[in-house]
Amino acid sequence: MKETNYIWMDGKIIPWADAKIHVLTHSLHYGSAVFEGLRFYETEEGPAIFRLKEHTTRLFYSADTIKLRIPFSEDEINSAIIETVKVNEIKTGYIRPLAFFGYGKMGLRPTGSPVNLSIAVWPWDSYLGANPINVKISPYIRIHPQSTSMDAKITGNYVNSTFAGVDAVSQGYDEALLLDFEGNVAEGPGENIFIVKNDIIYTPPKGKILAGITRDSIMTIAEDFGYSVQEKVLKPEDVYDADEAFFTGTAAEVTAIASLDDHPMKFPTGPITKKLSDTFLSIVKGLNEKYKNWLTIVR
Ligand SMILES: Cc1ncc(COP(=O)(O)O)c(C=O)c1O
Repeated sequence: MKETNYIWMDGKIIPWADAKIHVLTHSLHYGSAVFEGLRFYETEEGPAIFRLKEHTTRLFYSADTIKLRIPFSEDEINSAIIETVKVNEIKTGYIRPLAFFGYGKMGLRPTGSPVNLSIAVWPWDSYLGANPINVKISPYIRIHPQSTSMDAKITGNYVNSTFAGVDAVSQGYDEALLLDFEGNVAEGPGENIFIVKNDIIYTPPKGKILAGITRDSIMTIAEDFGYSVQEKVLKPEDVYDADEAFFTGTAAEVTAIASLDDHPMKFPTGPITKKLSDTFLSIVKGLNEKYKNWLTIVR
């Protein structure tokens, strides 16, 4: 990973190398931390953070699910994120806010543990590398919605994603697709999925997935273009049979899917995928007036 100069920690900007924690930090043992992933892009007016407020609101939602009280307001976290981007003086990159139960008390229940927060930024290129990608249905099923708050970004939930991703890559694929406990299509380890069939765009409904902010953005963009976007329970066969398919996510942006389980899509990077991806990239780079309210310029 490419290091930057500074990390925001518990209200202060400190050198990257000094952002350390104790080995008996509660969250390190029990997965009891929550996090966000945001991107910022170079624009003519300066670096622009994409949908900052929505990410911060989701961070607070995730924290609430594990009863972690963030000792800052959402506005203060927004300002801290802006400040962290600013002091590091990079034009484009990824932002990782993390809120965790710290050092001072062991045992599964975190009640009484101190809460710590960090915000790091670093340059991060295209997450999935190749585009379009080959995807494999994972033997690991997505966490049951009654097992944890699986629509929250809780670090412990991500063991499920790690297993799926490692398995897919070990078998020569670029990424995994997880099914839910009922055998329906859920999401990638860190991405939401869309398919296109006869010019209609489909994506699995909320409830058993992370409600992605890129997912929401792409749905809005597609509807503004006049496409019908339907949230629908999808079976693997719907994806095998699709004209186009793509993943969305902050890290993955819009990544076209060439095949699922070696079933090629009719169009590996189809026209609708390309149109949505190009529009998304023009928006995040500040080249599309209509969606400028999604950007927070760092001055
Ligand atoms: C499991 C999972 N699904 C979907 C997404 C995509 O969400 P977003 O577009 O908000 O980054 C992510 C990434 O945060 C994720 O971890």
